[in-house]
Amino acid sequence: MADAEDRTYRPDALIARDIDAYLERHRDKGLLRFITCGSVDDGKSTLIGRLLYDSRAVFEDQLGQLESDSARVGTQGQDLDFALLVDGLSAEREQGITIDVAYRFFANEKRKFIVADTPGHEQYTRNMVTGASTADAAVLLVDARKGVLVQTRRHAFLAQLLGIRHVILAVNKMDLVDYDRATFEAIRDDFAAFAKDFGFEGLTAIPISGFRGDNVVERSAATDWYQGPSLVEALEAVPLAGEDAQARPFRMTVQWVNRPNQDFRGFAGLVSDGTVRPGDAVRVLPSGAQATIEAIHTFDGPLEQAVAGQSVTLTLAEEVDCSRGDVISAADDPPQVADQFEASVVWMDQTAMKPGRGYWLKIGTRTVTATLAAPKYEIDVNNPAGSGSRLAAKTLELNGIGVLELRTDRPIAFEPYADSKALGGFILIDKERDATVACGMLNFALRRAQNVHWQPTDIAREHHAALKNQTPRVLWFTGLSGSGKSTIANAVEKKLALMNRHTFLLDGDNVRHGLNKDLGFTEADRIENIRRIGEVAKLMADAGLIVLTAFISPFRAERKMVRDMLPEGEFVEIFVDTPLEVAEERDVKGLYRKAREGKLKNFTGIDSPYEPPEQPEIRVNTVDMSVDEAADHIIAQILPLK
Ligand code: ADX
Repeated sequence: MADAEDRTYRPDALIARDIDAYLERHRDKGLLRFITCGSVDDGKSTLIGRLLYDSRAVFEDQLGQLESDSARVGTQGQDLDFALLVDGLSAEREQGITIDVAYRFFANEKRKFIVADTPGHEQYTRNMVTGASTADAAVLLVDARKGVLVQTRRHAFLAQLLGIRHVILAVNKMDLVDYDRATFEAIRDDFAAFAKDFGFEGLTAIPISGFRGDNVVERSAATDWYQGPSLVEALEAVPLAGEDAQARPFRMTVQWVNRPNQDFRGFAGLVSDGTVRPGDAVRVLPSGAQATIEAIHTFDGPLEQAVAGQSVTLTLAEEVDCSRGDVISAADDPPQVADQFEASVVWMDQTAMKPGRGYWLKIGTRTVTATLAAPKYEIDVNNPAGSGSRLAAKTLELNGIGVLELRTDRPIAFEPYADSKALGGFILIDKERDATVACGMLNFALRRAQNVHWQPTDIAREHHAALKNQTPRVLWFTGLSGSGKSTIANAVEKKLALMNRHTFLLDGDNVRHGLNKDLGFTEADRIENIRRIGEVAKLMADAGLIVLTAFISPFRAERKMVRDMLPEGEFVEIFVDTPLEVAEERDVKGLYRKAREGKLKNFTGIDSPYEPPEQPEIRVNTVDMSVDEAADHIIAQILPLK
């Protein structure tokens, strides 16, 4: 076994001169990205070693080294191709996620290749997804002695999910089954039957031996019954992503607006699809504004046309609003714009998905807030095509894959992932931890999004407030059960009433008897509870009221969500900072005792978390101050109310 591994070309010190020379030599060759799936037992490392060695790969190295060198090359603007080595991971890297995917680079007479090598076990699903997200083809490795396994099916399903249309089934270790034709054909047919609904455009099965080199680069005499291509030949025949993309209508996501002086305003980005020329009519999305391409600029001078895969700066003949994250597209064939979608999501974080919570959704260069509904179903990745492949689920855990509906806080330009990876693929980021937690694919827009419009009203919120002669506020009390929220809020409201202020107090226990009587105390229900209260509080603030809310509201994310719904300064977070021991000691409603006895589940502070505010506008408690003092303190802080 060690034989093939030892022969892998593995230079220890890769010096810059080598890279420049190497890239120069292969500059004009097309680049194919592919992923290998399989486990160590399937002989994956041996095969990759063999591929690199037999292809006379000039160097092979880990991503880190390539990255540092590519930064150096990049600053000199000499070789853009080099950036392609690492861009697949950049989004995750920015968010500090550690993903164990080794990228290797090699070339032969016809093409350059980047192979993403990911571990095969189910717990590494997120790694495979990362590797597959930029791949044009997948090599699925099967041990000829074992045939198609559960993990082979999982890999095929993930490849399909991530939009890989070309799959090569490498039936390895043929030398150990005496190059038996029947064995190979049975595996090939077994896999083809399983994958028939996956819609792969190209499915090639190849009998190989990574160890002996049969059918890896050269066709082997040992399998004279096999007429198909070798693995490398098959990889050379896969259409390059760029070729497909060039046939599509023009799209470019604006990465930044280049405005060096008053006279020049250029929109820089990567052309993800199609072709663009000066004079072309374009549309800027999501606004829909129309314009004409004036010129195409690059580092090396103007261009007569730019095609998918090129990074350019466009100038427009007309002055139109266009900023980072907008999509410039062909005027007569633009992508859709929507704010509600069905999506497939791969959960990549230890912390489970929280339906109802707002996450950052990053699509192309645009970042918006997205709220996810509970999954319609989870997909059984180990049985993805059979009956029973759809499982009921309330959330998604690490490596879980589900189909769900989501809405964004603003309309975005998009295309179904199946049509465009650039405009249909996204990642989700936890706002609190600033960590990537999932990646996903937009499947389609929900129709209802297109049919509900905002109804403009003539009496604006400023009028409502002016009539009441006050500044609207949302005084958001948060704290443990029994901390004194309702009592203090009540005292504040009475004092405000004496000051002729128009107020309304929304109280947890009361609202749960009406508007929210369908909600309990699971995390998801509490998130929904606060979402609704937030919406109601906002409507009341729009009506010009000073709203007081008294809810435990245990999660920072939802309190922040309500804050972000309101104009700057209108949301006042008041932390009723009474320690758990004190609240429990008082136990006015007898609920702490019940919770301690195990008769009441999910009780805040006992078996359900409370996340205290980090920077509340106001902090009070009912230990060092009386209710009256706390109320006076709050009013002093929010004055003047006009
Ligand atoms: S929140 O967490 O969703 O913000 P909310 O303030 O509406 O909670 O309701 C809290 C009140 O419900 C408590 O003051 C208490 O009277 C009651 N309650 C009943 N069960 C629970 C529970 N499991 N956890 C917390 N409060 C509960």
